Amino acid sequence: MSYYVTTPIYYVNGEAHIGHAYTTFIADTLARYKRLRGEDVFFLTGTDEHGQKIEESAKKFGKPTQQFADEISASFRELWDEFGISYDKFIRTTDADHMEGVKKAFEVMYAKGDIYKGNYEGHYCVSCETFFPETQLIDGEFCPDCGRTTSVVKEESYFFRLSAYEQKLLDHYEAHDDFILPKSRRNEVVNFVKGGLNDLSVTRTSFTWGVPLPESMNDGKHVMYVWLDALLNYITALGYGRDEALMHYWPAQMHLVGKDILRFHAIYWPAFLMSLGLPLPQHIGAHGWWTRDGEKMSKSKGNVVSPKEVADAYGIENLRYFMMREVPFGQDGDFSQRALIDRINSDLSNDLGNLLNRIIGMSGKYSDFVIDSKDVRTFHAAEIAEVDAVLDHVESYLDEVQTHRYLEELWKLFTIGNKAIEAHAPWVKMKEGKTDEALAVVALVANILAKASVLLSPFMPKTTETIADALGFRITPEAYRTLIAEKTLLETFTIKKVPPLFPRIEAPRMEQAPQAQPNAGKTEKPEKKAAQKSESKNEDNLITIDQFFSVSLKIGTIVEAEEVPKSKKLLKLQVDLGEERPRQIVAGIKEFYSPQSLVDTQVCVVANLKPAKLMGMISEGMLLAAKDDEGLSLMRPEHPRKAGSSVG
Ligand code: MSP
Repeated sequence: MSYYVTTPIYYVNGEAHIGHAYTTFIADTLARYKRLRGEDVFFLTGTDEHGQKIEESAKKFGKPTQQFADEISASFRELWDEFGISYDKFIRTTDADHMEGVKKAFEVMYAKGDIYKGNYEGHYCVSCETFFPETQLIDGEFCPDCGRTTSVVKEESYFFRLSAYEQKLLDHYEAHDDFILPKSRRNEVVNFVKGGLNDLSVTRTSFTWGVPLPESMNDGKHVMYVWLDALLNYITALGYGRDEALMHYWPAQMHLVGKDILRFHAIYWPAFLMSLGLPLPQHIGAHGWWTRDGEKMSKSKGNVVSPKEVADAYGIENLRYFMMREVPFGQDGDFSQRALIDRINSDLSNDLGNLLNRIIGMSGKYSDFVIDSKDVRTFHAAEIAEVDAVLDHVESYLDEVQTHRYLEELWKLFTIGNKAIEAHAPWVKMKEGKTDEALAVVALVANILAKASVLLSPFMPKTTETIADALGFRITPEAYRTLIAEKTLLETFTIKKVPPLFPRIEAPRMEQAPQAQPNAGKTEKPEKKAAQKSESKNEDNLITIDQFFSVSLKIGTIVEAEEVPKSKKLLKLQVDLGEERPRQIVAGIKEFYSPQSLVDTQVCVVANLKPAKLMGMISEGMLLAAKDDEGLSLMRPEHPRKAGSSVG
């Protein structure tokens, strides 16, 4: 069986940060896991080097674009090498082979009638390298994805007939409900497609840093749109359009991406592939975003977490474990030293490290470091059954990239091991002269550690190698087959002493992130900021009870509601808070509620906010609401309460 897994190719406009490291860790883990199962794996990563954004960044640094791209691409590659990332190919979109493949794909799409020449007039966000119709812009000017100013582009362009693929895409999502992972993200893609797809401008004439059109087009003015160029890397890496020796790996089983680039992978990419007559990838796995101490990371705030710095301070594999254990796949996660230290001390040091130390200690004391499993099934049938039950289902979590559930389940093995030691107290058995029974407990736990380290090895390859070395076996596909798939026990163990693997960490080892400025990151959407803040677990962000009570929360009754003309988001409400006159509150809830449905309903209001002006109208409070990917709900009392009653 073959397994093809990819990371996004990273833009070379800046150094790698932990967001990039996260995707790469997951891809590396999946690749290692599949290799362990004996599958034929191809793992691709690389760098995305064309486009206006890179051209502009190089200019800012005063370097020739190719040299700039070479340097940053090398820094990514060196970092992944230092981190032991087991990629099979590192692709660069400036590679001649890749560019040849892209031109070939363009020719195929053109010959099929899916590419035609026209004129583009619209808005472009250089940072997202994306075109937006005017209707999607915020305040007619700002990018709906990143909030930066867009620029008006008016140029001749070739278009890809994306609109022709609307129904085919919808049919594909319908027939493959796990095409997009986590499945909860599927709806947002389906709704986007149902909203209607415009043809996509796939060439640019206003700059030159891109793949030129194929010579057969005889049109030297154009270079390819960076996303067409970039997405095709997944097949050019296998030799598409040239020597197709590796094309048997296609289709990919897993494209890992961040949620911000899901649309490109779940809509444009399958449409391009359909046009090329190639099968579609099996899964697009979209992970969430990492923040630092509850704040969005950005260069201007100086709070970007460097994976190298964290790895140097805390250990690369501890960081890998933390990131994949801490956050449910698909959800946003927060990096803080506190959370990382907690994971190292409790999961790794207490649960895993201590168990290994106990086994090393007991085996040395009771049987000169040599133990065997001959009595394990006699004395510990119950524990073995529990272990086997974990083995039966733990791996299924990785099918949907649920790394946190996988690790959570895996940790149950350590609980079984620790409990067995407490319950059967081998030191008592030794005193009672029941040596066989005492050694059976030690062998049981040694087997548990062996099995757990095999299953943990894709996440922590070096650490588990040391554990296996201490137990006297090697982690190989053969060990996976016997210990995990066939559930056998290791017959004998020759145990070796190793220094503690996870010394406890008492204090942060890196400087704290600079304190966020209240107005930093002006381009962020306000609701995004609020969401990120609320996810923070950092102690610096904890408030006292007095601070909490300084916020006046009140129940209000909406007595009037109307639309704000020309605004897609705002409604103007009059809310009775039991005061002399109703308060006027301008709320961004128009996409979720009609004005009529709100009148006479109750809401929870922040009543002591400084009044603010929104689109020229005074707003004298704020409504509380819960928001997720599926929509927004206002917070309301379970039963009607008097207008003005306080909440808290
Ligand atoms: N070049 C494109 C991808 C082309 S794939 C054919 C690109 N590059 S990127 O460098 O901007 O981003 C690469 C990946 O990093 C994306 O998946 C993005 O979601 C991820 N992240 C960027 N910032 C992130 C966080 N703060 N947290 C987690 N991942 C984030 O997009």
